[in-house]
Amino acid sequence: MVRPVTKAVIPAAGLGTRFLPATKAMPKEMLPVVDKPAIQYVVEEAVAAGLVDVLMVTGRNKNALENHFDRAWELERTLEVKGDTGRLEQVMAATALADVHYLRQGDPRGLGHAVLKAKQHVGDEPFAVLLGDDIIDEQDTLLRDMIAVHGERDASIIALMEVEPEDARKFGIATVEALPGVEDVVRVTDLVEKPAPGTEPSRLAVIGRYVLKPEIFEVLERTEPGKGNEIQLTDALLELARNGLAGGVYGVVFRGRRFDTGDRLDYIKAIVQLASERDDLGAPLREWLKDFTASY
Ligand code: UTP
Repeated sequence: MVRPVTKAVIPAAGLGTRFLPATKAMPKEMLPVVDKPAIQYVVEEAVAAGLVDVLMVTGRNKNALENHFDRAWELERTLEVKGDTGRLEQVMAATALADVHYLRQGDPRGLGHAVLKAKQHVGDEPFAVLLGDDIIDEQDTLLRDMIAVHGERDASIIALMEVEPEDARKFGIATVEALPGVEDVVRVTDLVEKPAPGTEPSRLAVIGRYVLKPEIFEVLERTEPGKGNEIQLTDALLELARNGLAGGVYGVVFRGRRFDTGDRLDYIKAIVQLASERDDLGAPLREWLKDFTASY
């Protein structure tokens, strides 16, 4: 019997250097996307996939993350006295979402190192990893689909998305084999982290969602620092994929919308697109955008 996935690990301890100076004293996961911090979208996605045990791996300057998912008694009381129930509900929503636990990474030695820190909390169970700065459109069922594929194949599952060749150098890139009669699920045979331009083996990039088997921890423990002198999750996954260890690695090909809010351009696109679709902001924003783009 394949053990069910019940826990989510959210690495949010990176330095966010692409967003300096905004991230000098504030984690990039707290940057607002319209009116919610990026991290709240990510926790909401985990909860929507049935994962209410959330472990956040945090680092320096991460107090704001903990405060966001905690009660804010004075603010709640003030809104209550004012009779502003709409805003009161919004403020309390983040607290009620999930059972959020926190762990400090210490030195930010890479994504693989952040995931390894979760070993004791996760134990001997499969678990999901959601990067704290990657937003997947709430209408998409990517994580639920990945959990279902894990249930069928008893393997580690990664999310893949087609990117333009010139963007491949920003991602881990996968080499895959099609599965007969199966659409959008592939077997991963090789992985390379941030390939040099022109050397990418495919256009399939690894994006920030994973369903991992606990065997990944043993592999991470012996994974040496790789690209950027960081312990790379990609390197540990490569070992599982190449040797077929613990069922190997499969990829779910995602064709929906994803925003890397740690990238300045993608962050701006996320705000414009999500705000354009909102009932309260969409109409005037779309109107303004038409005039604005016409003036360029
Ligand atoms: P990024 O590759 O975006 O790195 O990490 P970063 O250091 O946060 O940002 P830049 O590149 O300097 O701007 C991907 C995810 O892994 C987490 C980050 O918080 C982010 O969610 N991460 C990365 C850690 O938790 N610890 C690390 O040591 C590195």
